[in-house]
Amino acid sequence: MKTLSPGARGSSNGVRLRNDIGRRATAGFDWPWRRGCGPALNAAIAGHPVGDEGPDLAPLRAALAADGVLIGARRIRLGDEAALIDLRTAATPANLARRRASGAARMIARLLIGELGGDPAAPLMRSTSGAPLWPDGFMGSLAHDDSFAVAAVARNPSVAGLGVDVEPAEPLPADLIDLVLGDEEKRLRQGDEVARRLVFACKEAVYKAIHSIDGTELEYADIEVRRDEGMASLMDGRRLRLATLAADRLIAVAIC
Ligand SMILES: CC(C)(COP(=O)(O)OP(=O)(O)OC[C@H]1O[C@@H](n2cnc3c(N)ncnc32)[C@H](O)[C@@H]1OP(=O)(O)O)[C@@H](O)C(=O)NCCC(=O)NCCS
Repeated sequence: MKTLSPGARGSSNGVRLRNDIGRRATAGFDWPWRRGCGPALNAAIAGHPVGDEGPDLAPLRAALAADGVLIGARRIRLGDEAALIDLRTAATPANLARRRASGAARMIARLLIGELGGDPAAPLMRSTSGAPLWPDGFMGSLAHDDSFAVAAVARNPSVAGLGVDVEPAEPLPADLIDLVLGDEEKRLRQGDEVARRLVFACKEAVYKAIHSIDGTELEYADIEVRRDEGMASLMDGRRLRLATLAADRLIAVAIC
């Protein structure tokens, strides 16, 4: 079991620092996004809803409303890669499926940023850790499985960290059970393999929320999921709120 680093108690300094680096790195960059890679993107979006596909998100949206967190989902489509406009991925055209998924997630994120009064054309770079870099004042998280992309975004200073994960509603692979679930988590979800997968999704969401705040490298064993209480707790005492949806897709959102 991993001991959390002493630096893990931090504020959002890490996020501010990384956002600042992202801004400086892109200052003066001629964003194709702004000068009209638009036609490809518009064609990709045309006729297809952005942010409101897949499972009925209404219960999840209701659960997230108190924290001012918006969420959307999109089926990943041919052409969605046009929305993935950032320096690193532009330089690495390999793995089209992954870029397509990343583009789909960014479409949703930009839509939500716009709904929250931000710039819907905002570049969403990646930090060196892989975490997305959000515009000032925004916090969010992206995830995708083979078919669906999701994004969650907040513009709420009291949301320090946000993480989302999406998984197919399938059993957690047997070889991951002991790695991912603690004894109590296993006992509570005995015989419900999909519920076990949802615990996995919760832990991935928690990882993203915490890593975005201070870079802590959590292990699964560092996180205890208490879905009945709508929360997850960490070995260092921190607690995160959880909102989950179990439909044909499993979606977990962690907020701290
Ligand atoms: C970050 C991680 C959780 C992403 O999970 P994944 O199954 O590969 O992919 P997902 O579709 O769920 O999420 C991908 C998105 O996560 C985000 N992401 C990547 N690294 C991140 C990080 N360090 N912090 C927050 N978000 C991150 C990105 O937005 C990425 O989307 P993009 O590539 O389109 O920009 C995983 O790759 C990872 O690095 N895990 C670390 C080790 C681990 O698993 N520890 C135990 C977890 S408790």
